[in-house]
Amino acid sequence: MQVGIDKIGFFTSNYFLDMVDLANARGEDPDKYLIGIGQKKQAVIPPTQDVVTMAANAADKILTDDDKASIDMVIFGTETGVDNSKSAAIYVQSLLGISSSARSFEIKQACYGGTAGVQMAADHIATHPESKVLVLAADIARYGIGTPGEVTQGGGAVAMLLSANPQILILDDQSAFHSENIMDFWRPFYQREAIVDGHYSTNIYIDFFNKTFKDYCEKYQRQLSDFSALIYHLPFTKMGLKALRTVIDDGQHSAKLLKEFDYSKQYNALVGNLYTGSLYLSLLSLLANSVDLQVGDRIGLFSYGSGAQGEFYSGTVSDGMKSSLLAAHMDDLLDDRIRLSVPEYEEMYANGLPMMGGDVTFNFADDSSRFVLFGRKADQLVYKDQKG
Ligand code: HMG
Repeated sequence: MQVGIDKIGFFTSNYFLDMVDLANARGEDPDKYLIGIGQKKQAVIPPTQDVVTMAANAADKILTDDDKASIDMVIFGTETGVDNSKSAAIYVQSLLGISSSARSFEIKQACYGGTAGVQMAADHIATHPESKVLVLAADIARYGIGTPGEVTQGGGAVAMLLSANPQILILDDQSAFHSENIMDFWRPFYQREAIVDGHYSTNIYIDFFNKTFKDYCEKYQRQLSDFSALIYHLPFTKMGLKALRTVIDDGQHSAKLLKEFDYSKQYNALVGNLYTGSLYLSLLSLLANSVDLQVGDRIGLFSYGSGAQGEFYSGTVSDGMKSSLLAAHMDDLLDDRIRLSVPEYEEMYANGLPMMGGDVTFNFADDSSRFVLFGRKADQLVYKDQKG
C-alpha cells in the first residue's frame, strides 16, 4: 500500500517586511540579506494570529467535510505552543469541526516537529489504511530587533493531510536520523525570542545533513543520481544551498539538483523561517514551481531541528499532483500582502499577548483571515471564526 501526503496547504499573515528596507535600517549592505542570506521578504505576524489560527487557516483551505469526518489523528508540530499543557491540536480540531473521535496532540523538537508528525502519521496509516491524519506544522520565528538572526525571522503554517493512495507525495518508508544534545538554538520558558549560536548552528546543520544523507545512501544503496531533487529545512535559503553544495560536483546531474533547489526555495525566500513548517513550504515551492519534475521522480527531504535532531528521508511524486493548483493557492496568499515600514514592523513585533498574563482584546478589523485570536480572558485564549 502506498502512504503519503495527499493534500498540502499553507497560510501566513498578510503583512511582510522587505529585506532591502531592513538592511537599510540596520546599516547593512542589502546584498548581504538578498544574496548572502538569500531572503527577499519576511512574514510579520500580527497579534491576531498565532500558531493555532495560522494552522486552522492553512487546514481550512484543503479539508472537505468528508476529510474532517475521516481524520482520526491530528498531530501539531510546533515550538511556539500556546499553552504549557494543552496542545494546539485540540484547539484546531475544535475550530475546524474535525471529528471528536480523533486523537489530537502536540509534538516538540524545534524545527523537526513537523517531520516527526509526518513519520508518525505514515506509520499509523500503514496499519490503519482507512485512516486520514492531519499534520500541522506552524511557528513564529523571533530573534529580536537588531540581532543577526533578525533577517531570518518569519512565520506561517503548513497543513498536510496524509492518507493511503496519496495524490501528492508517496513516502518511500526509507529514512535515516541522527540526534545529539547540542546547544545551537533554544528558547527558555521566560522569553519569546530564541537564543542562538548562529555560526555554530549552521555548521551543525551541515554535519547532520552529511551524516544522515550518507547513512541513508548506505542503508538503501542509493546515490545522488537517484534523486531528482534534494530539499531542505530552510531557516534562510542560503542554508540549504550550503548543505547541497557539500554533496554535488560540477556535473550535469548536480546542475539539475541546483535548478530544482532554486524552485524549492522560492516561497521560503518570501516568508522567512517558519521553523517546523519550513521543509514543507519548500516541498510546496518545488512542486508548484518546478517545470521538469515528473510523476515518479524521487525527492530527498532533509529535516533539521536544533538541539538537535536531523532526518533524511525520501518520497516520489504522485500522479495526482497538480502544480498549477498549488501555485494558484500560493500566489493568492503571497501577492496581496501589505508591506510594512520598519517602524510599523517594530511596533507589531512588540505587541502580542503579555508574557505576565492578564486580559487583553485585540483589534482584528484589519485581519480578514477566517480564524483570528480575539484575545485572552480569565487566562483563557479566545479564538474567533469570522465565518461562524
Ligand atoms: P551574520 O553573522 O550576520 O552573517 O549572521 P555573516 O557575516 O555570516 O554573513 C552571512 C552571509 O552573507 C555570508 O555568506 C557572507 O559572506 C555574506 P556565507 O559565507 O555564509 O556563504 N555576505 C554578503 N553577500 C553578498 N554581499 C554582501 C555580503 N556581506 C556578507 N555585501 C547567521 C548569519 C545565519 C549566523 C544569523 O542570521 C543567524 O544567527 N541566524 C539564525 C540561526 C540560523 O538560522 N541557523 C541555521 C541553522 S540552525 C536551524 O536551521 C534551526 C532553526 O531553524 C531553529 C529550529 O530548529 O527551531 C534556526
